[in-house]
Amino acid sequence: MLKASKYKKSEQAIGIFDSGIGGLTVANAIHDILPNEQLIYFGDTAHFPYGEKSADAIKYYALRISDFLLKQNCKMIVIACNTASSVAFHVVKQHVGVKAIVINVIEPVANRVAALYQQGKIGVIATKGTVKSDIYSQKLKELNPQLQVTSLATPLLAPMIEEGFFNNKISKTIIYSYLSNSKLKKIDALILACTHYPLIRAEIEEYYKQKVKIIDSAEIVAERVFNQLTENRLLNTTRILRSKFYVSDYTESFAKSTKIFYKDKVVLEKNTLWENE
Ligand code: DGL
Repeated sequence: MLKASKYKKSEQAIGIFDSGIGGLTVANAIHDILPNEQLIYFGDTAHFPYGEKSADAIKYYALRISDFLLKQNCKMIVIACNTASSVAFHVVKQHVGVKAIVINVIEPVANRVAALYQQGKIGVIATKGTVKSDIYSQKLKELNPQLQVTSLATPLLAPMIEEGFFNNKISKTIIYSYLSNSKLKKIDALILACTHYPLIRAEIEEYYKQKVKIIDSAEIVAERVFNQLTENRLLNTTRILRSKFYVSDYTESFAKSTKIFYKDKVVLEKNTLWENE
């Protein structure tokens, strides 16, 4: 049984989760357009990277994290991870039911891209898990069969970013080696289909020199959050509560990365949801 909240539903928090720091790009974009909302962030650092895990393992983690966020009475759960969105969105949505609105990061991006392009070649870079699910190609083709979609797994990128390697020689070499893959030749747009990748957006833009449109999910998903809260009359216009950040395992790189977005204001709490098993 969930404990009833002493706050009105609109005053309750938005829960956000990812395997690590990637979802912070989404959290940050949500905070920018909805500064009144309390965010409860869960980084499942103990199980990072999700991109290498089986669909069953990710579904299990996603359900446990959703339970944790529901216990905190979140009015909305944002799956701020493409890998988890690609395999666990439906189970999470079914599990959560009417207790909270569940948002994934893939649908809003696919809708935006289909609205922007009548035809053309769309590149997708993502984790192995997301590419294996083939979800972007399926969704985009459903929305617009004229689009050609090509996906490339870029498994070194998320661990590299999670470890704080970006804007340096090593990251540039790895990024350029992936982007020069023949699969990505002659693309019109590139979807950064991993929430870690906005952190290397500048390096990706430098590679393409404005010849390819770069699409990252953070702002697009934040807009979806805004619209859904508005439609459901759940925008918080009253109490402003401090956001909270949890990790399933403390890592120095996570602590450092939270500072990129939130300066020194973040107090990181460790919460091993799996402790008593
Ligand atoms: N940030 C996650 C995503 O959007 C993935 C990183 C990982 O492999 O855990 O897919």
